[in-house]
Amino acid sequence: MGASWWWAVVWVVVVGGAAAMSVIEKEEGQELREKRDGEDVEVESESDRQKRLFLIFAQVQPLQCTTNSTVYKTGTCFTSKNCKSQGGLASGSCASGLGVCCIISRTCNGDTSLNNTYFTEPDLTSNTLDGCTLTVNRVNDNICQIRLDFHLLDLSQPDSNGRCVYDVFSVSGGMPHLPKVCGTVTGQHMYYDLDPQGGAVKITVDRSVVASLTTAWNIQVAQIACDSEYRAPVGCLQYYTEHSNIISSFNFDGAATDTDTRQLADMDYGVCIRRADNYCSVAWVAYALAGQYSFSMTENAAVVDSSLIASARPFALYVKTDSNETMDKGNRGFSLTYRQLPCF
Ligand SMILES: *[C@@H]1O[C@H](CO)[C@@H](O)[C@H](O)[C@H]1NC(C)=O
Ligand SMILES: *[C@@H]1O[C@H](CO)[C@@H](O)[C@H](O)[C@H]1NC(C)=O
Ligand SMILES: *[C@@H]1O[C@H](CO)[C@@H](O)[C@H](O)[C@H]1NC(C)=O
Repeated sequence: MGASWWWAVVWVVVVGGAAAMSVIEKEEGQELREKRDGEDVEVESESDRQKRLFLIFAQVQPLQCTTNSTVYKTGTCFTSKNCKSQGGLASGSCASGLGVCCIISRTCNGDTSLNNTYFTEPDLTSNTLDGCTLTVNRVNDNICQIRLDFHLLDLSQPDSNGRCVYDVFSVSGGMPHLPKVCGTVTGQHMYYDLDPQGGAVKITVDRSVVASLTTAWNIQVAQIACDSEYRAPVGCLQYYTEHSNIISSFNFDGAATDTDTRQLADMDYGVCIRRADNYCSVAWVAYALAGQYSFSMTENAAVVDSSLIASARPFALYVKTDSNETMDKGNRGFSLTYRQLPCF
């Protein structure tokens, strides 16, 4: 954070031109006057200058910062005044104390043009069984994707065919085919491709089950530039960059006591893994801690041609389900661990 801030200051000085350059070479605490064209004029102190540059800079290119909250961890570095006017909450400082790390959160009927907005449940007094929508406007014209992080979202279970007919989470406004999910979504993430010239994205939590009215949620919406190294490849709803991790289907639960379907219907998406340098293949193992039902889908995994799950690239797992669980109600979905293996 410190490094990019100083780089930014230099940049603003250059853009700001000669006027800004004329006040350099003042040291902290030095007499704040100088001779200009023979006249004795007041000049700003070094710390005032930094503040002023920060004010300009914070409006041109907001930077991410780490808040002091454990729930809303990513903030934007603003002046405390700007944080208030954006409807944000100051949580810790940034830019060497010149700014505050500002948490931006929005609820039903809210809209945002800021990166890392947290979409949260409405307060109980204004809660109704209805779609609760957040409108997300791009922070600039170079946004190709959004990443949704479901820090918390637990909706009601699907019907016996795995269809989300009671409560449902959905997104619209970008490319089609984002799956509609319900049940336990906490801990999952999704990438959503956008048309950089397109309109706003609508993110909706729709509840029809009364018990869901008291449900809290926390969904972080990050905007990803078209040329960002964090952009997920085409076709990847989920994208993992670690050497190893656990990948579960939406609403997975391996509990043996649960005999209703947890597998969601009509899924059709890719889960991709970024290949690490000098790693050539991926080992997949059913996640042992997820119990005996860590892979319970309609077809037996053994029928998959083993040549398909060798070292195919890009490393990806494709998930496809239909909407018919007749005679097959106990499907839990899957929970698998992957581990990248070095090249030999
Ligand atoms: C977090 O930041 C806010 C505002 O900057 C401050 O008032 C609060 O005391 C901080 N909390 C902790 C736990 O540091
Ligand atoms: C938005 O924030 C994320 C971090 O959460 C960062 O990786 C990304 O580059 C930011 N997007 C823009 C357009 O600044
Ligand atoms: C659902 O699957 C059952 C058993 O495989 C089959 O008999 C039934 O026709 C299917 N229903 C639909 C609507 O596809």
